[in-house]
Amino acid sequence: MACTCVVGLQWGDEAKGKIVDLLTDQHDIVVRFNGGANAGHTVVQGGKTFKFSLLPTGVLKPHLRSVIANGVVVYPPRFLEEVNDLRATGVAVGDNLLLSDHAHVIFPYHLEEERLSEQGSGQAIGTTGRGIGPCYQDKVGRISGVRLGELLHPEHLRTRLRAIVPRKNQLLRALAPDARTFDPDVLCDEYLSHAERMRGHVTDTTRLLLQAHRNNKRILFEAAQGSLLDVDHGTYPYVTSSNSTPAGVWSGSGLPARHINRVVGVIKAYTTRVGRGPFPTELNDGKDGIGERIRQTGREYGTVTGRPRRCGWFDTVAVRYSAAVSGADELAVMLLDVLSVAKEIAICTGYQWRDRRLEAFPSDAFILEECRPVFETVPGWESDLTHCKRLSDLPAAARRYVDRLSQLLELPVSIISVGPDREQTILC
Ligand code: IMP
Repeated sequence: MACTCVVGLQWGDEAKGKIVDLLTDQHDIVVRFNGGANAGHTVVQGGKTFKFSLLPTGVLKPHLRSVIANGVVVYPPRFLEEVNDLRATGVAVGDNLLLSDHAHVIFPYHLEEERLSEQGSGQAIGTTGRGIGPCYQDKVGRISGVRLGELLHPEHLRTRLRAIVPRKNQLLRALAPDARTFDPDVLCDEYLSHAERMRGHVTDTTRLLLQAHRNNKRILFEAAQGSLLDVDHGTYPYVTSSNSTPAGVWSGSGLPARHINRVVGVIKAYTTRVGRGPFPTELNDGKDGIGERIRQTGREYGTVTGRPRRCGWFDTVAVRYSAAVSGADELAVMLLDVLSVAKEIAICTGYQWRDRRLEAFPSDAFILEECRPVFETVPGWESDLTHCKRLSDLPAAARRYVDRLSQLLELPVSIISVGPDREQTILC
């Protein structure tokens, strides 16, 4: 049976939510396997705009099962807030939404640790400030990691927090004398009350997914962030703390990767990045420049933090690499309509690094920082694409641009998006 993974091939915010939403009709279960409330998915459905940071996009379809699997890090207040917001708009949320008892829990001391590390280390990553990094650190460090299943055992949780929190307070005070510190019993009571409201959703999702696969259920994996933010394969250290490529599916959900038979690589028709880190094709051409016009037209501001996204031209060197490492079979090209602002469009086809021309992507940030893009330029179309419904509706220059990306990336394009709505989609 078909298992699909939808993955962003740039630095996140490729509009994956729309593709996941389109593909939900062909699947029974939608799974998030990495990250946490650092992701920002925007889905427009029936004229309403839904923004998620932690819940899988599948929750908009109550007939589907939506799973937050073991590889995700969960901040309970955010989970409950998103569930409440959805219910307020009339979307039913019940046992269709499941949380892994093995997912790790984010506590307020994680947020404080991240705030102080970002401010005080002189080596800020430019994170979303959602406690993601410190929580994954505790998971891998084992001594202080807490799984969701532990919240369902009050005495156990109290014992653990009484051991963990004083050490966290020491660490926080060492980072900054005026750091916020925490009382283990107050924290325990607060989290026990969250747990009561989450209890009905918490289960062994690994078992559930393995069983579902045996029963021929179709499973859709929704990667958060983008492949270039993957902790192993991205532009380290300017990455997130999880595997945001399909490499994360196996460890982050328990379903063996060999069951995935379709990987849809989602790309924006240009490039954006939030936070720090190298970005060879970035457009720093001022407030009247094309970079700013792309930002305004594409509403390129972070869903989670509201930060303006850095904008630039499409980078085929970076995406050839990320598509390979993600095992992409096909491409969905998003936000093509935004490039209507450009008279001419540049495509990066290589890098110049010192006196060498590089064909392969150097994912080491310190080398990438020194790479200069080599561009080829193609004509723009300067006309509105938002009403195009078929490939033949696109102006010839827009079709040529998409064909050129496909040719350089050596992958077929299966979907083109020309606006946020479901209808603004061309199936190729
Ligand atoms: P963290 O995931 O909050 O630790 O942030 C690490 C880096 O990943 C920062 O540069 C963030 O801006 C970036 N990041 C995290 N989540 C997303 C996302 O969903 N879209 C785009 N960038 C993200």
